[in-house]
Amino acid sequence: LDNDLARTPPMGWNSWNTFGCNATEQIVKDTADFMVSSGMRDAGYQYLTIDDCWMERSRDSEGRLVPDAAKYPHGLGELAAYVHGKGLKFGVYESPTYHTCQGFPGSLGHEQKDADTFASWGVDFLKYDNCTASDPDQRPGDEKLPLEARDSTMRDALERTGRPIVFSLSLQPAAQGESPWEWGKSVANMWRIDGDRDASFDGLRRLIHTDLDKAKWAGPGGWNDIDMLGTGNYAYASGSNDPSKRLTYDQEKSELSVAAVLAAPLISGADLRTPAASGSSGFPISDQDLSVYLNKDVIAVNQDSRGEQGTAVTTGNGLNVLRRPLANGDVAVALFNETSSQAVISTTAAAVGLPANSTGYHLNDLWAHSSQVSTDGTISATVPAGGTVLYRVSPRPPATNAG
Ligand code: GLA
Repeated sequence: LDNDLARTPPMGWNSWNTFGCNATEQIVKDTADFMVSSGMRDAGYQYLTIDDCWMERSRDSEGRLVPDAAKYPHGLGELAAYVHGKGLKFGVYESPTYHTCQGFPGSLGHEQKDADTFASWGVDFLKYDNCTASDPDQRPGDEKLPLEARDSTMRDALERTGRPIVFSLSLQPAAQGESPWEWGKSVANMWRIDGDRDASFDGLRRLIHTDLDKAKWAGPGGWNDIDMLGTGNYAYASGSNDPSKRLTYDQEKSELSVAAVLAAPLISGADLRTPAASGSSGFPISDQDLSVYLNKDVIAVNQDSRGEQGTAVTTGNGLNVLRRPLANGDVAVALFNETSSQAVISTTAAAVGLPANSTGYHLNDLWAHSSQVSTDGTISATVPAGGTVLYRVSPRPPATNAG
């Protein structure tokens, strides 16, 4: 969307995958504090969004949405101000239907009133869903309006507020028979390309095999959204805190590598609070998992100003090669091993689209923080089970004559 926002993929946090309907003002404040103290804010993670269930079951006498008083006793204007005070941005959730996915009042028919309400609170990001099933108030016809039309109404309402608000479309494309990538760029800043991808490794594998054809629709201002990142999310991996279902460290590096190459929004679904704030019932992220989010070189690939989404070079036998051309002429190359045993994955400079170069290439390993030279253009690595070696490949400068 041409609203000057999201020129690179949005980065931040969303409450849903860890907290579901139980997010509160205190959780958001503790998360904001942690975003600062952990270095996540300074690494670029900016938007904190509360998902479904933030509101009361009915609108007020003037038709405005009302925050749930038990969860948000000081209201959302105060919470947005707190988040802004930390140098972060604040997001909320709604839906272009009569009800949200959890049955709260939807924005269909109330778009301008809701957009104005969000703007008055200082909202910076709107996640806009699309659940249509069994809506008790459904008036025949209305909800059957094409999704693009319903989403465009909110786009226009947001624009009329004059407040910069990133517009993010959530939906279940396959289940709902929708292809938001085809029209998303004139409506929104990002759109979901897959169903709810839980925090499991299978979700990441599914993505690799079903969604790599959507690259051409992405670019500055409009991105393919792969849903919340599962890295460091121990609560949602299996619906319970089952350690065996968590992503391994290698799988987490794969998730961030794939997200970087796909120019996907980096929205964490983890419990981003200190252990003290999180308490005994929380699932605070470990330092190791945090380090995966904080890798500056990987973030630089994700946020590359060229804004071109990466594509697959090969995806056979669970040994995947993905490549993304970068603004300075480098190419990011992900060697992603989705199998359960270590494997060698190889490609070439020519295959990933680099020009021939007589002096060869630097292969900068963005996770190992090491560099090697490939004189003949071979790009290869031994990759652990579930892991990814992510290279930033640069043509070497021409050899200079001594003297
Ligand atoms: C849908 C979305 C989720 C979440 C829930 C909330 O399932 O895909 O990300 O927003 O609705 O009800």
